Amino acid sequence: MRTIMVLLLAVGSVSARASSKTAEGSYRVPTNPDFAKYEKKVPWQPSREAIEKQAAKKSTINYDEAKVRSYTLPEVLTPAGGGTVTTATGWEQQRRGELLDLFRQYVYGVAPAKPDTLSFRIVESDPRAMAGQATLKRVAISFTLQGEPFTFHLTLFVPNQRPGKAPVFLLLNHRGPENTDPTRKRQMEFWPAEYMIARGYAIAAINVAAEVEPDNAKATTGIRAFYRQHYPRPEELSWGALGAWAWSGSRAVDYFETDPDINMAQIAVIGHSRGGKTSLWAGAQDTRFALACVNDAGEGGPALSRRNFGEDNAAINRSFPHWFAPKYAAYAGKEDTLPVDQHELVALVAPRGYHGADATSDLWADPRGSWLALVEASKVWTLYGKTQRLQDKMPLVNDLLIQGPIAYHIREGGHGLMLFDWKLHLDHADSLFKNVAK
Ligand code: GCU
Repeated sequence: MRTIMVLLLAVGSVSARASSKTAEGSYRVPTNPDFAKYEKKVPWQPSREAIEKQAAKKSTINYDEAKVRSYTLPEVLTPAGGGTVTTATGWEQQRRGELLDLFRQYVYGVAPAKPDTLSFRIVESDPRAMAGQATLKRVAISFTLQGEPFTFHLTLFVPNQRPGKAPVFLLLNHRGPENTDPTRKRQMEFWPAEYMIARGYAIAAINVAAEVEPDNAKATTGIRAFYRQHYPRPEELSWGALGAWAWSGSRAVDYFETDPDINMAQIAVIGHSRGGKTSLWAGAQDTRFALACVNDAGEGGPALSRRNFGEDNAAINRSFPHWFAPKYAAYAGKEDTLPVDQHELVALVAPRGYHGADATSDLWADPRGSWLALVEASKVWTLYGKTQRLQDKMPLVNDLLIQGPIAYHIREGGHGLMLFDWKLHLDHADSLFKNVAK
């Protein structure tokens, strides 16, 4: 028995070495990864196996393309007063603002303005982080209401070798803080800081669920509770957790404005799943984000609400009522009467960069519904002469479609923000930022 145990341990350590793990067994982010396993580029079809697996879990949810009911989307270019917007100026003056208001009212809620007392303090810095490759800064972002303080942190690594100010990717991390470890003892594919630095990008993160607003319907702590207690007009605020997380992303941009290492024309916001819903809402509202990367974000993100495929309004509000404005749940089963649909949210990112990403077996997130939202939204980018209107046919699996500021990919595999997703988001950023002065 003992001999077998020893043998098993030995085998374990060999395979650990083979998969580039350290002696402690922890993952190391490769700076020059091998993406050979994603080389196959084929048309996407939800596999029968994936459909059956998902259908077995939630019987009321549709995963069959043939059973998608016909739906009519609100016309993105038609303002409430009627007519059609035909120019970029018309979009900005007659349509953009009213759509933002509708999303605030019906989906994500109204958030407070930037606090007057907002301040930043570098609580830790290391100019020789990552064996001298990067400078680490940990920034406390604070403000007060009625004299009471609220603080959360930004973790930032900036590449030391760079031609000028650095482009930056900000992850709104809804997962545990171990994903964004400033000491780099723990390294995760979810926030591959070493890889980003090797490619010349700064990488930042806020642990939004751990420090800004708990991901919990019954939360009694966090920024929303803080505003309820200390803001003079709390009845004005209807923000859900996604709104609060997005708000914190804009406060990070307020900090970047004070940091001479950061290129203000090259700020990307990225999030995965519920974090991707958040990065989309942040990118829609705050035009200082030059690029919104929206990974596997599905319902309440870029997936069309009216399309009955994968997660729906009833399911999301049953499990996560705290993510949204209170009004949103009233549309369960009545998605056709929602005053907006998610293509209009994607359109709010125009003319800046948008990158949608899905995964082949992530049917819960309705990859096709997210693609179709982008197709509709591309009408708005065409007003700026930035791109052609996209067509319904989806890009090939593992391929990166870049059309000017718009990009999309569907990666082989399941729900996750993998290193290959980061690579493609960065490839898009490379093409988008190359003409912007540093
Ligand atoms: C659940 C939820 C999704 C969400 C996901 C995640 O599956 O239903 O809407 O995107 O969690 O955040 O991982």
